[in-house]
Amino acid sequence: MTQAPKKIILDCDPGHDDAVAIILAAGNPAIDLLGITTIGGNQTLPKVTHNALTVLTVLGQTSVPVYAGCTRPLVQPVEVAPDIHGDSGMEIHGYQLPEPAIDVVPDVHAVDYIIDTVMNNEPGTITLVPTGPLTNIALAVRKEPRIAERVKEVVLMGGGYHEGNWSAVAEFNIKVDPEAAHIVFNESWPLTMVGLDLTHQALATAEVEKRLVDLDSDIANFVVGLFGFFRQSYQDAQGFDDPPVHDPCTVAYLIDPTVMTTRKVPLDVELRGALTVGMTVADFRSPAPEDCNTQVAVKLDREKFWDLVIDAVKALS
Ligand code: BDR
Ligand code: CA
Repeated sequence: MTQAPKKIILDCDPGHDDAVAIILAAGNPAIDLLGITTIGGNQTLPKVTHNALTVLTVLGQTSVPVYAGCTRPLVQPVEVAPDIHGDSGMEIHGYQLPEPAIDVVPDVHAVDYIIDTVMNNEPGTITLVPTGPLTNIALAVRKEPRIAERVKEVVLMGGGYHEGNWSAVAEFNIKVDPEAAHIVFNESWPLTMVGLDLTHQALATAEVEKRLVDLDSDIANFVVGLFGFFRQSYQDAQGFDDPPVHDPCTVAYLIDPTVMTTRKVPLDVELRGALTVGMTVADFRSPAPEDCNTQVAVKLDREKFWDLVIDAVKALS
């Protein structure tokens, strides 16, 4: 018997890799993408919201509703990432982005959409997939604490247990709003942290790019254009040869959990420290306590991952 598609809300800040997460969520039948919520992160909220609408327009998925969320972190000032994602938050090489054919759902804040969706669906049926700073998710669970026990699981891109990218030990999504991350990581819902330890294995190599070029479709060309800019950024700003395509790893895990190995470990977020603010601290001492509700992604099956991405591009083309 085939399983019903998993209902997800993608909370994102597109963002090159967020765009690929949208492609994977919209282009795989195992996922029912109920809605997209946006969060200021890679760029300001208006820019990333515009980008989400643009991505859906390119994909022809204009019936997916988009809700705009928080403009800034809970406590920290706004911090964006133009060195990685450019001025628009989704600069692209060699591809002409269209103007969005759709707009956001008016007068409904992302936080309220998340709460209403979780409260109006059967418990254990809605998965939250945050791929940006965790401000919307934190506010949602503070405003309506009952969502913590109704959400099926939270599968997020953020953090890392042995490396950072926004400081020596902190990853961008956590570092820009550590207080929100602290709330989300300390809730009772099952939480999977897909952090840098995993996503740095999801490199868009020349071979991956060739597979896309060979598809010769508009959506494949869009992704090739995204990877072109992203590669340059990662070479210039972070010393990578190929860009790590972080965010779709979360969706890939929901489609097929065997795409990665995970380990159950207690997790927390550092809020105070001269050098460590925003660090995700994983306690690998075993055995993990019985009531541990958090796990980290450890190892990626690269081939399976890229097959899923390429298949989604094909399916949408
Ligand atoms: C994360 O930060 C952003 O730059 C990416 O979109 C990803 O979500 C990686 O640190
Ligand atoms: Ca992101």
